[in-house]
Amino acid sequence: MDYRIAEVTANKKKYLDLLLLADEQEDMIDRYLDDGSLFVLDDEGVKCVAVVVALNAEECELKNIATYPEHQNKGYGKAMVDYLSGRYLGEFETMYVGTGDVPKILRFYERCGFRISHRDENFFIDNYDHPMFEDGVQLRDMVYLRKDV
Ligand SMILES: CC(C)(COP(=O)(O)OP(=O)(O)OC[C@H]1O[C@@H](n2cnc3c(N)ncnc32)[C@H](O)[C@@H]1OP(=O)(O)O)[C@@H](O)C(=O)NCCC(=O)NCCS
Repeated sequence: MDYRIAEVTANKKKYLDLLLLADEQEDMIDRYLDDGSLFVLDDEGVKCVAVVVALNAEECELKNIATYPEHQNKGYGKAMVDYLSGRYLGEFETMYVGTGDVPKILRFYERCGFRISHRDENFFIDNYDHPMFEDGVQLRDMVYLRKDV
C-alpha cells in the first residue's frame, strides 16, 4: 500500500457517496460535515474518508469513516484510524466513535484500539426517519467506544 492521507477543506460534499455508506441519511451528515475535519485516503484514487469533530477541549469524535466496498478488508480503514489517532490524540485526551450494535464493526474499532464506553439508547430509532438494518438486524442503540491518549 502506498497511500496518502490529507485533510480536505473545500467541496466536502464531493465525498457524499462514501460518507453515505457509514451514515445513510444526508441530513445527519450535514450536522457535522461543515464543522468537522474531513480526511481523504488516496491510493491511486480515493479509497477511504473520515470526519472528526471536536466535542470540547479534551474530547473529539470520529463521526464517519467509510471505505469503498470493493476496497474494504485491505487495511485502509485501520490506516485511517491510526493516522487520526496520531494526529488527534495528544491534542485531545479522548477520541470517541459511535456505531450501531454490529459485531463486525465493533471488532474493527477494538482492533484499532478503541474500547466500549457507553450507549445512547434508541438513538437510531429517535434520530433517523426510517428503520435501519445492518446484517439483517435493526439498529437501535448507538454504542460509543473510546480511545485515550
Ligand atoms: C468499517 C470500515 C470503515 C472498515 O474499513 P476497511 O478499509 O475495510 O478496514 P480494514 O481493511 O482496516 O479492516 C477491516 C477488516 O479487514 C481485515 N484486513 C485488513 N487488512 C487486510 C488484508 N491485507 N487482508 C485481509 N484482511 C485484512 C482486518 O482484519 C479487518 O477485520 P476485523 O475488523 O474483523 O478485524 C468499512 O467496512 C466500511 O466502510 N463500512 C461501511 C461504512 C461503515 O459501516 N462505517 C462505520 C460506521 S460506524
